[in-house]
Amino acid sequence: MAARRDFGQGNGHGQPAVPVDAAFAVDHLHRLRFTRHAFDPANPVLREVLGEAEASSGRLVAFVDQGVIDAWPDLGTRLENYIESVPGFTVAGGIRCVPGGEAAKNDWSVYEDTLRVIHDEGVCRHSTVLAIGGGAVLDVVGFAAATAHRGVRLVRFPTTTLAQGDAGIGVKNGINGFGTKNFLGSFAVPWAVINDEAFLATLSDRDWRCGLSEAVKVALLKDERYFDAIERAADRLRDRDDAALRPIVRHSAELHLQHIVTSGDPFELRGSRPLDFGHWSAHKLEQLTGFRMPHGEAVAIGVALDVVYSAMSGRLAGSDAARIVALLERLGFTLHDPALHDPALFDGLEEFREHLGGRLTITLLEGIGRPVDVHEMDRQRLADAIGQLASMATGERRP
Ligand SMILES: NC(=O)c1ccc[n+]([C@@H]2O[C@H](COP(=O)([O-])OP(=O)(O)OC[C@H]3O[C@@H](n4cnc5c(N)ncnc54)[C@H](O)[C@@H]3O)[C@@H](O)[C@H]2O)c1
Ligand SMILES: [Zn+2]
Repeated sequence: MAARRDFGQGNGHGQPAVPVDAAFAVDHLHRLRFTRHAFDPANPVLREVLGEAEASSGRLVAFVDQGVIDAWPDLGTRLENYIESVPGFTVAGGIRCVPGGEAAKNDWSVYEDTLRVIHDEGVCRHSTVLAIGGGAVLDVVGFAAATAHRGVRLVRFPTTTLAQGDAGIGVKNGINGFGTKNFLGSFAVPWAVINDEAFLATLSDRDWRCGLSEAVKVALLKDERYFDAIERAADRLRDRDDAALRPIVRHSAELHLQHIVTSGDPFELRGSRPLDFGHWSAHKLEQLTGFRMPHGEAVAIGVALDVVYSAMSGRLAGSDAARIVALLERLGFTLHDPALHDPALFDGLEEFREHLGGRLTITLLEGIGRPVDVHEMDRQRLADAIGQLASMATGERRP
């Protein structure tokens, strides 16, 4: 710890303030595990992760996405049996059901109900909150866990492709407020994230596809060879081939985690937020469509728009832009929506700036795997890019 104390100087009226600065660092361990059938009594992963806590009350509350319970009706029993078999652990009050999808983040009563359970079940900072679900449920339960007692240990079980490859991996949580995505939320490192790939089997085709847009996004930012791999697997992914999906989602998770751990800015204090490539418009499209458009589909459009804009502003080769747009379409995404023509779309730029703070910083592309930050977006060129995307998306023309 470096401290600076200058007593007896400048502490009178009109004098400079006395600086007492103290720098300190805290190590975090972010545990990410890939497995199948985590609540099978023979599966050691959760037992091991729970056992790593130095101080533990053994008390655990479990919140499960309604969509997951519908698809896996015996999940509650299996989970309770598993936990009861871990020495010293117990599930307080049975499993709790949380409404699935964006509604869970739009209605603050879901956050409040989650907090109430944590309160009423006597959960303390040495207890564990377990969250099982899609990105939305993980976000709201994570926010409640991060704010109750200033932070209760959280184990996440992401159950969608998007949550296993992106949303469940990071150090953020949040709920929507005043019409703004993730207006309330916090940065909180989870105790562990367990990607149980068996959950993905019961997703709707739409939710199964949604994680692929975040995979393309992170490939464009970080890894050209991964982009090539997604391209090679595109037809099998479109046909919902689980074996083709697994390595794609895993690598997406790894790249997201790597960014958080190695970028030097896990809590986003600096100006740039590259993992939100394409998200200024994506978040606005979700809002403008009354959340009819799910996050993953909005990200596909948002990425395509900023890719076309990158090409139109001379940064990215037209052939690369055409390749990226074609891949997103081959994966089954629709890249045009009437909401793109709503003049309020451009408010998304200012909202994005506010959310990050400081001056506007938008990530564009100079090549596949080569991001670049810019601080201005030309409205006319953006409008042109939207027009271009509309014609490309209907196959009329490529840049
Ligand atoms: N915190 C972050 O860093 C971060 C990052 C990216 C996205 N997000 C957020 O994640 C959310 C999107 O998450 P999502 O794409 O997982 O969608 P989602 O959470 O909205 O879930 C989609 C649907 O799938 C259902 N479902 C979940 N798992 C299922 C399963 N295994 N079988 C059957 N149905 C299942 C849910 O009930 C819901 O109806 C957005 O709110 C987005 O803002 C957060
Ligand atoms: Zn996203």
